[in-house]
Amino acid sequence: SAAPPLKDITSRYVGSAVPATALANEADYRTTLTREFDSVTPENEMKWASLEPNRGQYNWSAADSIVNYARQNGKSVRGHTLVWHNQYPGWLNNLSAGELRAAVQQHITTVMTRYQGKIRAWDVVNEVFNEDGTLRDSIFRQKLGDGYIADAFRWAKQADPGAKLYINDYNVEWQGAKSNAMYELVKSLRQQGVPVEGAGFQTHLSTQYGFPGGFQANLQRFADLGVDVAITEADVRIQLPADAAKLSKQADYFDQAWDACQAVGRCVEFTTWGFTDRHSWVPGTFPGEGAACLFDESLKPKPAYTRINP
Ligand code: XIL
Repeated sequence: SAAPPLKDITSRYVGSAVPATALANEADYRTTLTREFDSVTPENEMKWASLEPNRGQYNWSAADSIVNYARQNGKSVRGHTLVWHNQYPGWLNNLSAGELRAAVQQHITTVMTRYQGKIRAWDVVNEVFNEDGTLRDSIFRQKLGDGYIADAFRWAKQADPGAKLYINDYNVEWQGAKSNAMYELVKSLRQQGVPVEGAGFQTHLSTQYGFPGGFQANLQRFADLGVDVAITEADVRIQLPADAAKLSKQADYFDQAWDACQAVGRCVEFTTWGFTDRHSWVPGTFPGEGAACLFDESLKPKPAYTRINP
């Protein structure tokens, strides 16, 4: 099409989650990624279970391949993620509280030090809240107490002082119990001098629900706390089979999310959780749903892409 690449129509980073295998094996995938985006987030490759499945044995190759691609092609990297209740290695379950605390510190330090200066922003903690705004009863909270969050940010700051340190979550796009809790936590951590520097809004949307009300105002209130904000994992899933009406609704949602970020000075990044329906977590996670990305399986821009970039 005649439209410029997405990355060239905004001052924000425009990113996608990327699986290392697609990047390595699919030339057309890589070409579209390189043309349209200027930031990448490893989809699974930097999660703790991927990096250190056995204690003390780090597998860096897949994560390195994405970072090397980024460096060779002038792309920015979002690191994802250091402390999360999913996709952590089973050996953590056998540790005492003291051992777990030391393991978390060592993990943050090891990973961030390896990539120091190569990663623009890190999701230090991911999905720490329940829907009602209470803290999720993860292994980290159970064994280490609520203070594990502040500790994680302090350790992260020591490991790579140049990376922007984020708290990241889903269902926080509208103002409700969960986003209010994230807001209060960011505010109180900052009052205590804890280096939380960004709030990430995953933005996994569905055309089955309404577009999150007040998204822009919500981004703005976090920005007003003095942190950057980012749309970190945007996708808009559709009840299959997709049709023109559903794709048009999806286009409207993507465009509203895009515009919300454009309207907030400190919204620094618009990242999608995969850019092509060929590689998306949605069909495997939400049975009967899919077609959640900006490009179809053959890398043709969908109506959502054209709505953002006419
Ligand atoms: C997902 C990946 O896309 C899948 O491949 C994997 O099987 C599970 O995790 N929120 C997050 C991401 O923060 O890490 C998740 O990624 C999607 C939801």
